[in-house]
Amino acid sequence: MSHVQIDADGRLRHLITLQGLERSHISGMLDRAVKLREAFSATGSRPQLLAARTVVNLFFEPSTRTRSSFELAARRLGANVLNFDISGSSTSKGESLEDTLATLEAMQADAFIVRHKENGTPERLARHAQRAAILNAGDGNHAHPTQGLLDALTIRDRHPDPTSLKVVICGDIRHSRVARSDVHVFKSLGVADVRLCGPAALMPDASELQACPRFDSFDEAIEGCDAVIMLRLQKERMVAGLAGSESEYFQRFGLNAARLRRANSEAMVLHPGPMNRGVEIAPEVADGPQSCVLRQVANGIPVRMAVLATLLEG
Ligand code: CP
Repeated sequence: MSHVQIDADGRLRHLITLQGLERSHISGMLDRAVKLREAFSATGSRPQLLAARTVVNLFFEPSTRTRSSFELAARRLGANVLNFDISGSSTSKGESLEDTLATLEAMQADAFIVRHKENGTPERLARHAQRAAILNAGDGNHAHPTQGLLDALTIRDRHPDPTSLKVVICGDIRHSRVARSDVHVFKSLGVADVRLCGPAALMPDASELQACPRFDSFDEAIEGCDAVIMLRLQKERMVAGLAGSESEYFQRFGLNAARLRRANSEAMVLHPGPMNRGVEIAPEVADGPQSCVLRQVANGIPVRMAVLATLLEG
């Protein structure tokens, strides 16, 4: 979808999607995230790579993890952060997003972190930006590239060569930007077997994600997997409601301890959050020894530091 993110010299100018991004770009950002993470945990290092730069959080949808970790990442690199208040802004009086962007760019904003319910909004703004970098923090069901990167880092920490891994992504894939970005990053890193599982109504169209085998039995899909990625039911994006009750859904597609035993004995359990406990994941699994949920959250900061540094500092 997005060619706007690479400039004529092959450098990353915006981060809109991981689809089609070269493995070297992805590995470069993950390697940089590891270095930043190690330096911070060893000495509390806060390299002032973005001193005097301004990063604007522009969130048109709610967020706990992405917004906070972008803010912490930017501050750790020495940037000023403006958490733009959408409800109190002139967008609520009908100002176009392009005019809002131009206005804030005129105030010397260097980067915009954009979350929006409409697919393509970050790309639209990237095409309009004069100087600033646009970072997609999740658009509709299209992409959530920094979530894909932090999921990849969390798995790569345990499996430095991920090529022979079996990964299953289970749940509401149709409405999930995380699933799409995860598939794109895993395929770019050469992960051999990325399975998709969910009820037919929550699977993407057949024309999408064709490299991934599809399952409607979670018991079959999870067999022998090294990583199990659970997704939230996105009721806010469903046109028709979920057929059947949430307890029926949990019976078929929820991750409980018994089902997890079908995966490899040390399989990693991931969930991007926010979690619906008892709907897609049992509390004892979410809080259990195989859960990597909080490690994902922790990795979000160095990953977003690496992305910001790559786009703004070069
Ligand atoms: N994973 C994720 O995008 O969480 P938030 O909606 O809290 O940012």
